[in-house]
Amino acid sequence: MDQSPLGNRVPFLDLGAHHAPIRAELDEAIAEVIDSGAFAGGPFVEKFEREFAAYCGCQYAVGVGSGTEALWLGLLALGIGQGDEVITVPSTFMATAEAISYSGARPVFVDVDECTYTMDPAGLEEAVSSRTRAIIPVHLFGQPADLDPVLRFAREHGLAVIEDACQAHGAEYKRRKVGSFGDVGCFSFYPGKNLGAFGEAGAVITNSFELQEKIRILRDHGQDRKYHHRMVGWNCRMDGIQAAVLSVKLAYLERWNSLRRAHALQYNNAFVGLEELRTPLEASYSRHVYHVYPICVHQRNEVIWLLKEKGIQCGVHYPVPVHLQKAYGSLGYGIGAFPISEQLAKECISLPMFPELTSAQIETVAVCVKEAVANSVLV
Ligand SMILES: Cc1ncc(COP(=O)(O)O)c(C=O)c1O
Repeated sequence: MDQSPLGNRVPFLDLGAHHAPIRAELDEAIAEVIDSGAFAGGPFVEKFEREFAAYCGCQYAVGVGSGTEALWLGLLALGIGQGDEVITVPSTFMATAEAISYSGARPVFVDVDECTYTMDPAGLEEAVSSRTRAIIPVHLFGQPADLDPVLRFAREHGLAVIEDACQAHGAEYKRRKVGSFGDVGCFSFYPGKNLGAFGEAGAVITNSFELQEKIRILRDHGQDRKYHHRMVGWNCRMDGIQAAVLSVKLAYLERWNSLRRAHALQYNNAFVGLEELRTPLEASYSRHVYHVYPICVHQRNEVIWLLKEKGIQCGVHYPVPVHLQKAYGSLGYGIGAFPISEQLAKECISLPMFPELTSAQIETVAVCVKEAVANSVLV
């Protein structure tokens, strides 16, 4: 990990501090799995699936190996594959588009809204074609996408909706948890997420009995009974240890999200009146859960460099929008295709954000950011 001369005064993320207060509970949960031997799938996964579905206000949750697998299996269960197109945004983590490609379909992009950084539904009309089968709105940074226009458009065109909620555990759209609006909702429990496992894990949620059954079968080699394979599937099962850890941590998620929201408010207040810097907007329809707290500045690289010198760790989510990634050169999108996503990729900085951040740390970051923004023009 990079160290400044001052050490890391404020880390980007502190999983040690995050787990310390619940360490005994976590140790006990892991010991229970070891004693039971239920390591791959099994009762701990089933228990977490029930708890997570109830938390999301959805009928079913299916535990899988990662958020990427959740998206991929969601697409496969909806019958999406070769020759199909799926519309999503270029301002996301690569996995959203990758899952589309792995299903055999082609990703088609629409730009994001300049205020919310989530899918701009105005772009859907131009992107849709006779081959389009689904739309994947991404609840980026913990901010729900504006779902009503997307759901309406999907209904009018006979398309499925797959919510990428990998960064938005517990976020709400019009007072309902995200993930429960589309045909399926997909979550990642990567360790740094608002609800993180002790390794890789993910889940698909849905209210459809047929879809959950298909995803359950697909994640387990296509078998509905041991060694009876109804279809060709894959091994995408969730580990028992991950499920046990997630069950413990789920009980704290609301509290952790509230702390993230309070930290975001403290950052927002500290930056009031600073014209060179844009803070994240919480859309009127949403309860943002600030998986990431992004600010936008013109001299992004200079500001990051100055913050690093002060011992403030930052992130960049994401430096290259998906349509400009080398891996997607064959899609034929050029620079300028999606100006808002491209601008975000140039200007966004993610500031330290985790529930255990102290008020003093936020104050330190805010002071350093203001100083760095003022000095960046001189660099
Ligand atoms: C928006 C988004 N989609 C999908 C994923 C993929 O999740 P995983 O890393 O668990 O495969 C991530 C993970 O960072 C993500 O942020």
